Amino acid sequence: MKNVNYWRLALGNRTLSSNTCISEGREGARSSMAHATAGQSLPVPNVQALAQTWNSSGEQVPDRYVRTEETGADEVLAGGAIPVVDLGRLMDPQSSEEELANLGSACQNWGFFQLINHGVPEEVIEDVKRDLSEFFKLPLEAKKAFAQVPGGGLEGYGQSFVFSDTQKLDWADMIYLMVSPRESRDRRFWPTQPPSFGRSVDRYAAETARVAACLLRCMAADLGVPPDRLTEAFRGQPQSMRTTYYPPCRQAADVLGLSPHTDATGLALLLHVTDVQGLQIRRDDGRWLAVDPMNGAFVVSVGDILEILSNGRYKSIAHRAVVHPDKERISAVMFHQPCPDTTVGPLPELVGKDGGGARYKSVAYMDFMKSFFVAKLDGRRSHMDAMRI
Ligand code: OGA
Ligand code: NI
Repeated sequence: MKNVNYWRLALGNRTLSSNTCISEGREGARSSMAHATAGQSLPVPNVQALAQTWNSSGEQVPDRYVRTEETGADEVLAGGAIPVVDLGRLMDPQSSEEELANLGSACQNWGFFQLINHGVPEEVIEDVKRDLSEFFKLPLEAKKAFAQVPGGGLEGYGQSFVFSDTQKLDWADMIYLMVSPRESRDRRFWPTQPPSFGRSVDRYAAETARVAACLLRCMAADLGVPPDRLTEAFRGQPQSMRTTYYPPCRQAADVLGLSPHTDATGLALLLHVTDVQGLQIRRDDGRWLAVDPMNGAFVVSVGDILEILSNGRYKSIAHRAVVHPDKERISAVMFHQPCPDTTVGPLPELVGKDGGGARYKSVAYMDFMKSFFVAKLDGRRSHMDAMRI
């Protein structure tokens, strides 16, 4: 197979990259397998272009985007807020103990937090925001020069993997890139417009890798394992980035920008490129809580891999994105993955401590990702069910 390297996953004859987002729905599971093994994501319309013409038409939003059962505003919790963690306080010996407890509680009870005082220079953030926004402003044909290719996995410009003709579609376009290590990059998908794109993403990736490493060390301290126990699993700090463009939608309450999912990754750092709310997380009672982004903060999500490594102490929480009736929204998520040769399983120190034994199987990371895709294509609800003991 062409173009498969250590950093990409092979499933059947298609190459799949991690951190994809495939909707949780069961419909179309059977036909999905046929397409998956044929190595094709089904072609669907570009949503930015669709929105441009449709929003000013008098027509109903196309049926494939209508999600009546899932988007009702009445099930969204008002007034709650996810925890805020201060990286400056975590690094300061005077306050680190207190802030560590705050971090631990956020990871255990919420699986999400906003990270402030992260020390990433404003200029680095402003540059990457500008270049990501500029990219989506390019004419459609110019963006398509970096489009996903048939059988080439999910990297590039396009939509999340579409596996059936009846599957509901998300109201969004995205560009997904393998970022680190450098040899994982596929230059075909890296925008050359705006010209500073690559440099801005490089600097941003280096800064977010540093922040992720700090957080992993702090989490190790909170879990009571040696400081490098988690960073070892993330050796080489593989990163990939998904930037999602959510066009406005006149019928915003009827569609979803991103279907409910958990992040099949270690740690995800989300940057709001535009100042528009849209991310919602699922609380234990099944209701959705809207995340109100703080200026300059990252929204951090605990991914499935951290849930497993922590033997279930930390939670990987389902989340989704809704869209705005008249504002575009752009988010950029930097995913931090384990090293491809890692075995993903509960840390032995924690299994001993918890008394109840291991709550998850230990599997090669590559096998974890394969089971992630197989679960989705089978229409099973969660790949994590297959991991639980
Ligand atoms: C993701 C994600 C949420 C958002 O890309 O995994 O959850 O608000 N994005 O765009
Ligand atoms: Ni996500």
